[in-house]
Amino acid sequence: MLIKKPDDIKSSEITSESVYLNRRNFIRAATLAGTAGASGLLYRRLNPASQKAAAPNAPPNGLNAAVEQVASGYRTAEGEAANSFEDITSYNNFYEFDTSKSGVASASEGFITRPWTVKIEGLVNQPREFDLDDLLKIASLEDRVYRFRCVEAWSMVIPWLGLPLAKLLAAVEPMSNAKYVKFVTLYDKKQMPNLRTDILDWPYQEGLRMDEAMHPLTLLASGLYGKSLPPQNGAPLRLVVPWKYGFKSIKSIVQIVLMEEQPRTTWNMANDEEYGFYSNVNPQVNHPRWSQATERRIGQCTWGNCVETKMFNGYADQVASMYAGMDLNKNF
Ligand code: MTE
Repeated sequence: MLIKKPDDIKSSEITSESVYLNRRNFIRAATLAGTAGASGLLYRRLNPASQKAAAPNAPPNGLNAAVEQVASGYRTAEGEAANSFEDITSYNNFYEFDTSKSGVASASEGFITRPWTVKIEGLVNQPREFDLDDLLKIASLEDRVYRFRCVEAWSMVIPWLGLPLAKLLAAVEPMSNAKYVKFVTLYDKKQMPNLRTDILDWPYQEGLRMDEAMHPLTLLASGLYGKSLPPQNGAPLRLVVPWKYGFKSIKSIVQIVLMEEQPRTTWNMANDEEYGFYSNVNPQVNHPRWSQATERRIGQCTWGNCVETKMFNGYADQVASMYAGMDLNKNF
């Protein structure tokens, strides 16, 4: 299965109009330009220069002002400031809706996320179908400001609101032979136009090893900037695994399955030479077509990639021990 695309679509990276608008709004001296590396095939082909105007992506009533007020309060533990709400909600990957980053917000507008159920099944003693609102009561929601690093070498800092995945898994009592967790996105052709295409194998699915899923950094996010997730960011529930490339962070989850065998994942099925199961951020292991040593922090880099990528996206102290003894060149 490979991507089919018209030959006339250019694969170059673009800076969305809304990012420019945001720069004006926030008086950032940034000129986002350049690409993260070689242009070309598969993943980037799905991110062509948009023919559309950027989405009129106004946050809900009064949120802009509120977000601007609190934005400076959202920082990573190392002091990096969060990207603006506008950055985070106007430059997205969500192929079920649109293959251009600036087109996702408008294409997903009106996406229905209530009622919403999430089935948790497989190797668990207490399989359950949760209503979303019940699921979110399993533990108190936490604000977590994480660096987010896309495999395409752009990055942001995002203030998520969510539930540690470990708390949810504990509630369904994993069996001792559960070694992996599979996550599956909603499959709804009426709402998600690209499900009628074969650009990827649908439904989108992802996987983690059990220890990764139980790691305290791993979050099921239901919001950002203290508000419910907008559709383009994966409403109503998406995974966030901050030491892995962004495509592991599957959106709009409806099913979680605990398994003994390693699940297949959407990008690995699309191209297993480029997208492995682990997908840990690793500046020493390049993508076959571009370097992973540096990144373009949206809203910060004035030219090209201005930030050096850190091992495990800067979370090595917390997660490196899970991969001790593994050859990360092979297990990429
Ligand atoms: N989840 C689904 N269901 N469909 C997708 O296309 N894209 C992934 C990931 N989760 C994707 C998905 C990719 S490639 C990235 S980089 C992140 O979502 C982008 O998340 P963001 O738009 O919130 O930045």
